[in-house]
Amino acid sequence: MSALPLLTSDPVYQQIKEYHSKHGADINIKQLFEKDSCRFAKYSLRLQTPNDGDILLDYSKNRITEEVWGLLLKLAESRKVLEARDAMFAGEKINITEDRAVLHTALRNRSNNPILFEGKDVMPEVRAVLDHMKDFTNQVLSGQWKGCTGKKITDVVNIGIGGSDLGPLMVTEALKPYCKGLNTYFVSNIDGTHLAEVLKKVSYETTLFIVASKTFTTQETITNATSAKRWLIEHSQNENAVAKHFVALSTNAEKVSAFGIDLQNMFGFWDWVGGRYSLWSAIGLSISLSIGFDNFEQLLEGAFFMDEHFKTAPLAKNTPVILALLGIWYSNFYNAETHALLPYDQYLHRFAAYFQQGDMESNGKFVTKGSQEVDFSTGPIVWGEPGTNGQHAFYQLIHQGTRLIPCDFIAPAVSHNPIAGGAHHKILLANFLAQTEALMAGKSPEQAKAELEKAGVTGAKLDKLLPHKVFKGNRPTNSIVVKRVTPFTLGALIALYEHKIFTQGIIWNINSFDQWGVELGKQLAKAIEPELVNTDPVSSHDGSTNGLINFIKSNW
Ligand code: F6P
Repeated sequence: MSALPLLTSDPVYQQIKEYHSKHGADINIKQLFEKDSCRFAKYSLRLQTPNDGDILLDYSKNRITEEVWGLLLKLAESRKVLEARDAMFAGEKINITEDRAVLHTALRNRSNNPILFEGKDVMPEVRAVLDHMKDFTNQVLSGQWKGCTGKKITDVVNIGIGGSDLGPLMVTEALKPYCKGLNTYFVSNIDGTHLAEVLKKVSYETTLFIVASKTFTTQETITNATSAKRWLIEHSQNENAVAKHFVALSTNAEKVSAFGIDLQNMFGFWDWVGGRYSLWSAIGLSISLSIGFDNFEQLLEGAFFMDEHFKTAPLAKNTPVILALLGIWYSNFYNAETHALLPYDQYLHRFAAYFQQGDMESNGKFVTKGSQEVDFSTGPIVWGEPGTNGQHAFYQLIHQGTRLIPCDFIAPAVSHNPIAGGAHHKILLANFLAQTEALMAGKSPEQAKAELEKAGVTGAKLDKLLPHKVFKGNRPTNSIVVKRVTPFTLGALIALYEHKIFTQGIIWNINSFDQWGVELGKQLAKAIEPELVNTDPVSSHDGSTNGLINFIKSNW
């Protein structure tokens, strides 16, 4: 794939650029609906799941015409998206800077087909770890697994960060209705407050610590895990308690053993699983403990369903490709800088945070796979909060600000909590629907004027107020509606976004699977740490950094 030309030199890109210069400013979504009564049918897709209802993607409220949509689909062909997809599923080492395959899809391969990596089927090992997870989950949930004083486990503390935290945290929150009864906590931040506050809530006798780290070298995780281990030993007065209260999820058996965790209590995975794609692996143990292994398998099933769709659907009917192309259209032609993920489901309150890592760590790159610096934007800034809270915080800027912010709205038709006879959920849904309608339709000066006049405002006051009351509209949105947020539909949704991110990385020809950009800060932190052992002033940095360090020390 590295032989691809820079995106901006691609002839199809240039055709789209020309189209955009001629027509981009005039495309009006509302008018497109007025002209075409079949627009929704043309620009929406329903994916039928086996047992969890249909997943609807409505992308008709976008600034796309038949002509430009045809060109964008042609761009996917010219950037060889399908070939790249097949290379990923085939276990080729597409993570070229780390010389690794990208095979998180093998973790959720629910078929009997082998998945080959370097000529060897990885599925027996994948299944063996799943069996281990199942057995352990059942032991803990049934109370058969006992803590060091013979009591059953009631609390689980996952210690990890980044991909070893965000996925399990997001999913356990999203699937709380399926919780089997254990309390699950997540400690990620090196700030001692995070661990300290969790330890206040749990008892050493009934707590299981999961140390989740692909590398088992991440400073935050190892420091937190070491402090948790010390806490356990101090409270139990028993060095052997570790065997009953600590398990590890990692690819690094040597480091796990050196930390003092019995390898029998280690759940392994492989370097072809990227950290931010690892919730499907042993890293998902806290999910399995929270919702039970059967439900964890349903999560895998949902992702597999989306993998099969991504693998087989033609470009024009392929939901991850569609989302990716829309993102490219706005980032690279309309210069949109951000993308908002707006779930209308409180259980999905960490969804945007999860995909901040998923998208921004994957596609925050400025050099192509051919080692050329890009002259176009790559990954967007991803952000968002659940509705309706966001409406009372930042939607003002989406409606009337100066920036174009494409938004994805995600909503379940049916709530897990139909309280007040379902009234809450109907209000929630009405708000979701109203927002996408308002963002598209806006309010014209004529409409705003009529409203003001009706309210008795006239003359100079009306003239002054009128511009503030106008909404230009034409703000693009996608809507994704599922029947209910179940383990299966959530698995499918996550995989949908994973493949969207993948597809965009292919179109930009960047490596979505490394993360060298996080290293420099880590290196510098290591250099600064020894300078913080005493109160001596430092002068080894730039003026600002010296000033900050010396101010902190002056407070000690
Ligand atoms: O610093 C970034 C990162 O490497 C992420 O990509 C990863 O998810 C996270 O750190 C945690 O890494 P590990 O699982 O090896 O502790």
